[in-house]
Amino acid sequence: MMNKKLTVSAPGKLMLLGEHAVVYDRPCLVTAVSQRMRVMTELINEPTLLLDAPDVNVVGYKKLLSELGKGEIPKGAQFVEIAVKNFLDKYPFKQGINITTQSEFSSQFGFGSSSASIVCVLKALSEATNSKLTNEQLFDLAYKTVLDIQGKGSGFDVAAAIFGGTLYFTTGGRIIEPVNTADIPLIVGYTGIKADTKTMIFEIEEKKKTYPEKINRIYDAIAKITEEARQKILEGDWKRVGKLMDFNQEYLRDLGVSSEKLEALISAAKRADAWGAKLSGAGRGDCMIALASSEKRNAVSNAIKKAGGEVVPVTPNAPGVRVETTDNQDEVFVVVDRDDNVLGYKTRWECHHDPSLIHRTVGALIFNDKGQLLLQKRSMTKDMEAGLWGISAAGHVTRGQTDEEAVHLELQEELGVDMPLTFWKKFISEEPDETERDVAYKGMSNGPFHPNAEEVAEVRFFEICELKLHIASRRIQLTEGAIKTLQEVKIL
Ligand code: MEV
Repeated sequence: MMNKKLTVSAPGKLMLLGEHAVVYDRPCLVTAVSQRMRVMTELINEPTLLLDAPDVNVVGYKKLLSELGKGEIPKGAQFVEIAVKNFLDKYPFKQGINITTQSEFSSQFGFGSSSASIVCVLKALSEATNSKLTNEQLFDLAYKTVLDIQGKGSGFDVAAAIFGGTLYFTTGGRIIEPVNTADIPLIVGYTGIKADTKTMIFEIEEKKKTYPEKINRIYDAIAKITEEARQKILEGDWKRVGKLMDFNQEYLRDLGVSSEKLEALISAAKRADAWGAKLSGAGRGDCMIALASSEKRNAVSNAIKKAGGEVVPVTPNAPGVRVETTDNQDEVFVVVDRDDNVLGYKTRWECHHDPSLIHRTVGALIFNDKGQLLLQKRSMTKDMEAGLWGISAAGHVTRGQTDEEAVHLELQEELGVDMPLTFWKKFISEEPDETERDVAYKGMSNGPFHPNAEEVAEVRFFEICELKLHIASRRIQLTEGAIKTLQEVKIL
């Protein structure tokens, strides 16, 4: 394992219907929101966790990996520390890790900053150690982390952070199913009061012990409402979903988890003609949500503000956890026919998702005076084939660039060098998701090279026979493009 720098992000969440009941084997509906948690990680040589989480007042926190989970843990550091500990227990590694978290939303909103940070940390560790956890494995580890800290909880928040979109979810992730909806006409009002989920869950647990029948009846009713709401969301019947939210709120009131402030915002929204409104999450604070037609949206928002709420702009259905790429997906590439005549221009994203769009790429093969070939290991933040070995330098030709300009720029950007290059071969390279028109150039240099850490994790000269052995024994893995280029110029 080497020093890998990664940025991972995961969305916040909003509970739509079914809170509390979902802790006890009933379903809920949750949507991932566009505000994201970002976690930057770097493996370090000392076996230590270093943590900066300024949003929750944790700065310069340091703990030996062997001590994780032991002794005093500041509240803001708990989720990250236990996530790292749980990962290490299952997938041991020797290096330490430096983590910085940064949130696009206040940890006060109840958007799930803790669960989103757990998910980001586990995803980053999975990537950095090449453990390749599936989303299901990620969920199990993240849910365990929540339970270790909170004692109880449904896991709906980690599911939203991992899978994104809008989900139908049952306790412990027994069922996690997407609910396909283009948009949700949602308005979110923050009460200004932080809810304490752990305390609320335990308060309700005590109530459930004293009045089991009453609480179970409430949960069954909420489950029924949630099932119907799932269907109505699919049908786009927001009026009915609003009504169901109102019914859900009545039961939450019965449970005793509403509050004066929540009720004030909810009734203000209703008076302004919202289709429905309810609290969202544990209750007694955090946010309320309302559904309203586009004509009533402003009136409902203003009514919530007037009642003392802060309207939080939110786009639902956000994508789940992802490694952030340093590649700009909107960069414009040159699209050509098989004879290299320019046909037009398309974005990086379009070219990489449509094999009919042949786009221009260039590559340099650099040899030293011993005849060894320089290869580069792609950084973990590349959008394609991250961590695999490529030729010395390679890249795309963007709109307005010649092949020569592009290849020299790649040398400078990726390796921090430039040198005379000679044309070697032009060819078409076909891969499952994309088709490239490639030009290979040849250069001579003994270095030194100054690889750009954002693009290149490592560079190394290889004897050609050594390279062939490494490939055969799978000690190193080349990108599809590198294999094709090396075959075209008859090195492989
Ligand atoms: C808290 O946001 C929602 C609860 O249902 C707890 C949980 O599902 O883990 C109260």
